[in-house]
Amino acid sequence: MLEKLIEIERLGMAALESVQEETALEGWRVTHLGRNSALMQFFNGFGALDKEERPKAGQRANEVKKALEAAYQARREQVQQAELKRSLEQERLDVTLPGRGVPLGRLHPDTHILRLLYRIFAEMGFQVYRSREVESDEYNFQLLNFPVGHPARDMQDTYFIENEGRGENPLVLRTHTSPGQIRAMRAATAAHPQDPPPLRIILPGMVYRYEQVDARHETQFDQIEGLAVGTGITFSDLKGTLNCLAQRLFGQNVRTSFRASFFPFTEPSAEFDIECFQCGGKGCTVCGSGWLEIGGCGMVHPAVLSNGGYDPTRYTGFAFGLGAQRIAMLRYGISDIRYFWENDLRFLEQF
Ligand code: FA5
Repeated sequence: MLEKLIEIERLGMAALESVQEETALEGWRVTHLGRNSALMQFFNGFGALDKEERPKAGQRANEVKKALEAAYQARREQVQQAELKRSLEQERLDVTLPGRGVPLGRLHPDTHILRLLYRIFAEMGFQVYRSREVESDEYNFQLLNFPVGHPARDMQDTYFIENEGRGENPLVLRTHTSPGQIRAMRAATAAHPQDPPPLRIILPGMVYRYEQVDARHETQFDQIEGLAVGTGITFSDLKGTLNCLAQRLFGQNVRTSFRASFFPFTEPSAEFDIECFQCGGKGCTVCGSGWLEIGGCGMVHPAVLSNGGYDPTRYTGFAFGLGAQRIAMLRYGISDIRYFWENDLRFLEQF
């Protein structure tokens, strides 16, 4: 009986020696430790042994089982190590292959130009004031001296939002950033009615117009409104501010022009132009005339100062409204404004 157990152990150990792979190892486990193995059959035949033989046989059979299990575990670790080693040896790492680039996000050219403009104006002492994109007719037009039916309204084709019950004061998508002038002045004069403080602010933001789209015109674009209100402010201050801006953007030798114009909310009024980058002033498809119109400007109309709560006999002010995309076109040499919102990566990746 004991010889039988010795034989089971010897055969098991010998078979384990030749096992090289995990699948063969599993086969060994089934054959030598599984339900139908010789060892298990030995346990099953226990009842046929003499009573005196049983304790010794049981003890010995358990020792054989433990020895085979321990040998199995040890062999398993060896086989796994060997398989890992083999697969690492087979793996090829070509360190000369070029690496895969991680795509980086970029800032939109509009963000670049707005941040640059904020910085330049901040250096000139202008604070940023935010105003709303959905405006009433009253703020977008009437308080800026465009009464209902005024022909100057045709300069800014308007998107109306809602007219139900609002009579002559419908809601509109603002056509320019100028209504923010009234809101900023009213906020300042409401806080200090007796002695309103001077203002030097810019009001940036998106504006909307029902436009015929072309290389210079979009239906939505950013404007940067500027407003300075105080005592003794003159047209020279306005010219100095915009010329300084042009020099900061395009260098000392940039050529600028102030062309007499009309806006109901400024008097006198002008258009501010910068020489075209594309043609150097000769006239091309981008500019038409050799100059690119950057913005409108002028001295704040006394009626507008008054609507804002400032006494026009004491205070004067200048204002301007610049097209941010037009400035970006000049600065980055962009020949068509439609590129800005087309989301074409070939364009966006250049910034
Ligand atoms: C105005 O909107 C006035 N509110 C500007 C102003 C402010 C005048 C304060 C006086 C005092 P205008 O419609 O010209 O003006 O627009 C101003 C600038 O916005 C233009 O010079 C141009 O640079 C830009 N702009 C106008 N229309 C478009 C458009 N469709 N697409 C892109 N930029 C435009």
